Amino acid sequence: MKQKFYITTPIYYVNGAPHLGHAYTSTAADALARFKRLDGFDVFFLTGTDEHGQKVEAAARAAGLDPQSFTDQVAADFKDMAARMNISNDDFIRTTEPRHKHACQELWQRLVDAGAIYLGKYEGWYAVRDEAFYDEEELVTASDGSKKAPTGAPVEWVIEPSYFFRLKDFQEKLLKLYEDHPDFIAPQAKRNEVLSFVRGGLNDLSVSRTSFSWGIPVPGDPDHVMYVWLDALANYITAIGYPDTSAERYGYWPANVHLVGKEIVRFHAVYWPAFLMAAGLKVPKKVFSHGWWTVESEKMSKSLGNFIDVRPLIDEFGLDPVRFFLLREVPFGGDGDFSRKALISRLNVELANDLGNLAQRTLTFIAKNAGGVVPACGELAAPDILLLDQAEALTPKVRDALERLAFHEALEEIWKLVRAANAYIDHQAPWSLRKTDTVRMNTVLLVLLEVIRVIAVLLQPFMPETMTKLLDQLGIPKDARQIADLEPRLVEGTSLPAPFGIFPRYVEAA
Ligand code: MSP
Repeated sequence: MKQKFYITTPIYYVNGAPHLGHAYTSTAADALARFKRLDGFDVFFLTGTDEHGQKVEAAARAAGLDPQSFTDQVAADFKDMAARMNISNDDFIRTTEPRHKHACQELWQRLVDAGAIYLGKYEGWYAVRDEAFYDEEELVTASDGSKKAPTGAPVEWVIEPSYFFRLKDFQEKLLKLYEDHPDFIAPQAKRNEVLSFVRGGLNDLSVSRTSFSWGIPVPGDPDHVMYVWLDALANYITAIGYPDTSAERYGYWPANVHLVGKEIVRFHAVYWPAFLMAAGLKVPKKVFSHGWWTVESEKMSKSLGNFIDVRPLIDEFGLDPVRFFLLREVPFGGDGDFSRKALISRLNVELANDLGNLAQRTLTFIAKNAGGVVPACGELAAPDILLLDQAEALTPKVRDALERLAFHEALEEIWKLVRAANAYIDHQAPWSLRKTDTVRMNTVLLVLLEVIRVIAVLLQPFMPETMTKLLDQLGIPKDARQIADLEPRLVEGTSLPAPFGIFPRYVEAA
């Protein structure tokens, strides 16, 4: 039986249109989900939209729509972005769906039955933009003298009846979780942040609101709607069938990794495991935090109006170059800057020049000079063996990098082989061998085809569309493109389709 692997993206707020930041989390999760499928796992990959709460309600009002019609529209736009980015999610959960609402109310009841929830009154700070409660000590004073959340979000003083979750009771259990599972929060710097937050002491968490109504009603007390983060985090289990924990789909729990942006680690690494422990459920295996993109060195913000939609970028540069850029440019976990210049340079240098040329010159040469078929292999010489060995050693390197979510490192390992193959073709010069030694020429071409095949198979998770085209050109059957299929060699004499370029150079209009 295949081993199960469950990966999630955060569910995205529908208060505004999808942008580069959302596309980033989704692309990273997609590459990992695709890699795990390629490596023989039974993968469940979940994404979706977070549709309740004050922030979304306010956005609907500003758009002159009732919240449900508004969220229907924006959620459709998020689905469109996922489709355009070729995201291979197995499900898309919306928190306004009945399946989620019912399951979430069941979870609430479970928490009540466990004695983890009590009624009280909240008096304190709230930031609608972050949908987060802050302690007085966490606030910062802005240049105009006003108090702000540590994220820079405006805060308001809230006094209202509220249900509370006994978070304080989970301090020791959480610390034990982090200690027993040192990889639970990654990267390390984030783990340290969370550790010091929890060691500093926890307060019980307000988990219901009464001053607005766009949320899931608290069972038995309809004046309250659930705090949007309790509602949202629950998506990771409601989508796989909670409360029916015996359902086949629930077999994916606990999730292997929740991929999240750095600003929402606290919710995932503190509140979420505490809710789960209180409900007697297993906790996820890992919360991995990635960094933030700026755009042309500026923070993306409403006031600057510089949110980037990836769809026009896809129209201009092609889908796979955009996916590649996002995972190649910045070490995953750190922050990065998006600029057209950097994107064009990656596209022209690494895709068009390095990989595109390698494939194109090998395949055109075979079409013209080797009868357009997989050439016969003569005796292997030292440089052939060296390159083939390097190709063989690549899979474990890529697997290891992706185990650590080091997408940039996996790509760098693949590019080392691309560059080595380009150097090999230059040194072996099949164009000269054509006149002197066609047996040797054929061997060199076959070695190149083998290496390109390995590269194309391993690049599928990152650039599925173009690698499909490349593998088609290599004559590899669709059902022989898994990692497990890397071993058997190409079959001599198989005729190859007419080659065509997969990564045209981008030339900026004058
Ligand atoms: N709704 C919550 C998540 C609930 S999960 C139970 C939320 N949504 S969000 O739409 O604001 O953001 C979701 C993701 O987009 C986060 O992973 C966040 O880091 C990512 N990004 C938003 N802007 C970003 C950048 N500028 N750069 C990189 N990613 C960023 O939080």
